[in-house]
Amino acid sequence: MGTSKTNSMLLFSPFRLGDLPLSHRVVHPPLTRLRANPDDSVSDIMIEYYRQRASPGGFMITESVHPSYESRGYFGAPGIYEDHHVAGWKKLADAVHEKGAYIFMQLSHDGRQSHVDLSRGKAPIAPSVVPFEGLSFTANGWVPVSPHRALDAGEVPGLIEQFRKAAERAKEAGFDGVELHNANGYLADTFLQDGTNKRIDAYGGTIEKRAAFSLALVAALVSVWGGSRVGVRISPSGKWGSISDSNPEATFGHYAQQLNSYDLAYLHIIEPRVMGTETIDESLPPVASSFLRQVFKGPIIAAGGFNRQGAEAILQKGDADLVAFGRYFTSNPDLPERLKQNLPLNPYVREAFWGGNETDYIDFPRYNQ
Ligand SMILES: Cc1cc2nc3c(=O)[nH]c(=O)nc-3n(C[C@H](O)[C@H](O)[C@H](O)COP(=O)(O)O)c2cc1C
Repeated sequence: MGTSKTNSMLLFSPFRLGDLPLSHRVVHPPLTRLRANPDDSVSDIMIEYYRQRASPGGFMITESVHPSYESRGYFGAPGIYEDHHVAGWKKLADAVHEKGAYIFMQLSHDGRQSHVDLSRGKAPIAPSVVPFEGLSFTANGWVPVSPHRALDAGEVPGLIEQFRKAAERAKEAGFDGVELHNANGYLADTFLQDGTNKRIDAYGGTIEKRAAFSLALVAALVSVWGGSRVGVRISPSGKWGSISDSNPEATFGHYAQQLNSYDLAYLHIIEPRVMGTETIDESLPPVASSFLRQVFKGPIIAAGGFNRQGAEAILQKGDADLVAFGRYFTSNPDLPERLKQNLPLNPYVREAFWGGNETDYIDFPRYNQ
């Protein structure tokens, strides 16, 4: 696809996301980089990272942000569980807005993908005990996750309140909205999918009951923001966090159908050809977006293994409205412009993905810089 076709590319045409007038369709998805301050507040290099990647009329979503101390699964991931966290997020949101972009905050409880060193000795939580071999990132680096315990149903209201409070703080910080992290095997995803949810109470046993926890979280976020400023991220058939479901079409079809009643800003879908953050098979077609397009009535953001051509193709096909670029956004601060002009991309540096300093984080050059 040559530059001569730039003007006719859907990827660079405007889109109205709820009431936000976007000027292009290239989305910055959540990318955990583990560079927060030790008290989980926003660091100066984080602010610089987002400032660099903000583009006029562009849409960004933050890395996973924790609504409580115990919800952390990675040391260095930021939080919004204390009032003093708001100030740093405000600076970050202001920096993005000064560049003319919009930003949502992704809220995540990491559930069973955690370690007792991150939660003052408390065992990680999950809907049911289904042992798995995953990794958590503590102050000592990557370590096997700690054994988890099954959540008591009586604890659910408290968790929901943490998300509601976090959504309120995100609003106070001047964000444009929030995204529920319901993907990649973290807490909400483990409730939704039957490989990890073996409960037989109000939160498990049937598809409807497995979706109840996620829907309660969505309702809490919507109570603060209104539906048009809330998005939900899912990863149907994704494998990250050893997650699985015996019938993903039924589970995610039901969930997407239920989400319709909230008039959400968007549904953000990670295509199953991506395994968490690992190498993907780009030859596989994006299937989840096309399936859920038939069910979900609002805008769809597709993510996972997209390049310029693939992004344009899914937009032309009508299966998505916006396309997220993860790994390439880490190494290309001016990614939308590079894609628009069909310029070469800086390669990303996997070794710097999780943790570190400004190196291979905020020192990637813009084109011809
Ligand atoms: C370093 C790194 C951190 C990530 N952190 C998150 C995260 O915090 N929340 C999330 O929903 N997805 C996260 N992802 C997944 C990405 O948002 C994206 O879905 C994935 O990289 C696939 O897109 P890509 O093929 O364009 O890179 C992460 C991916 C990478 C590479």
